Amino acid sequence: MYSRIAGTGSYLPEKVLTNHDLEKMFETSDEWIRERTGIGQRHIAAEGQTTVDLGLEAARRAMEAAGVVPEDLDLIVFGTTTPDQIFPNCGTLLQERLGVRNFPAMGVEAACSGFIYALSIADKFIRLGDAKCALVVGAETLSRIVDWTDRSTAILFGDGAGAVVLKPADDPGIISTHLRADGSHKDLLYCPVGPSKGFPVDERGRTPMFIHMAGNEVFKIAVKSLGSIVDETLAANGLDKSAIDWLVPHQANIRIIQATAKKLDIPLERVILTVEEHGNTSAASVPLALDAGVRSGRIKRGELLLLEAFGGGFTWGSALIRY
Ligand code: ACO
Repeated sequence: MYSRIAGTGSYLPEKVLTNHDLEKMFETSDEWIRERTGIGQRHIAAEGQTTVDLGLEAARRAMEAAGVVPEDLDLIVFGTTTPDQIFPNCGTLLQERLGVRNFPAMGVEAACSGFIYALSIADKFIRLGDAKCALVVGAETLSRIVDWTDRSTAILFGDGAGAVVLKPADDPGIISTHLRADGSHKDLLYCPVGPSKGFPVDERGRTPMFIHMAGNEVFKIAVKSLGSIVDETLAANGLDKSAIDWLVPHQANIRIIQATAKKLDIPLERVILTVEEHGNTSAASVPLALDAGVRSGRIKRGELLLLEAFGGGFTWGSALIRY
């Protein structure tokens, strides 16, 4: 038994913050941001709009595309680094919002790899026969943990959500998923506070619930790790890189994406690129890109997709999918 993607959906909040808007907030330029990252704008959740609110919109769209209703669901796996609250987890909060109950609903915290991790978990539930209709969500309100006075990180991140519905199938579907983590890099990309460690106040009187990043080092390790995970994914399936129809990458930085595309010998026309429109939305970025590829008619049924992501931890991973 395999799982297959029955439908995709995504949602971006209404408010847009352009590079020109950022020029008014600190010393930077549209040209610098575009050249170094490929980002043109990011979407920002409205006041009071939460990660689950965004995830709900994406989930509704994915369920509509899959032709399923909430009562059909028997599993929710929700990848996020910016949960609405410490608990209940976002999967459970989403379940309540959908008006259903009595099946497993969980949150997965793996930073930008959150969706790939969530997809891998849901795939295994379906393969084992423990679920027949799984909702997999990646959603974030990263704007809430961005230091808007720090130009080295504030230019990168945004809010959004994406979702897929997985159903059982006789043929793949999801062919394989590959997950990795290396906590020895925990100090290169992190948010330093939490209920167990505490919420101290810094010298500026703020709780530093902000993303901290050593951009240059993250960049180099991301390129290397993504390069080896795509090689590993192809090797595990005995495939040549020419077999891939579409690369659906984590949308962190156009230069990281270009490096992975080069490694795969895949032209940028065969890469789904959404980074310009919404920046790095962490766990939401892969399903946002997937949905953009599907809804624009570029990704067609039967094509071979390679999804990949890399994020804080570090965590990284890939999924090879016959759409
Ligand atoms: N505008 C203008 N100048 C800036 C800005 C800005 N927004 N930010 C930094 N600079 C300056 C720096 O101060 C520095 O100036 P100096 O040379 O006078 O000291 C200069 O630009 C170069 O700074 P670097 O940090 O070396 O710039 P770099 O080319 O590395 O680009 C960036 C920075 C865009 C953050 C890059 O390192 C990067 O993209 N890293 C990967 C980050 C990433 O993608 N993280 C996410 C992946 S994992 C995940 O998704 C969570």
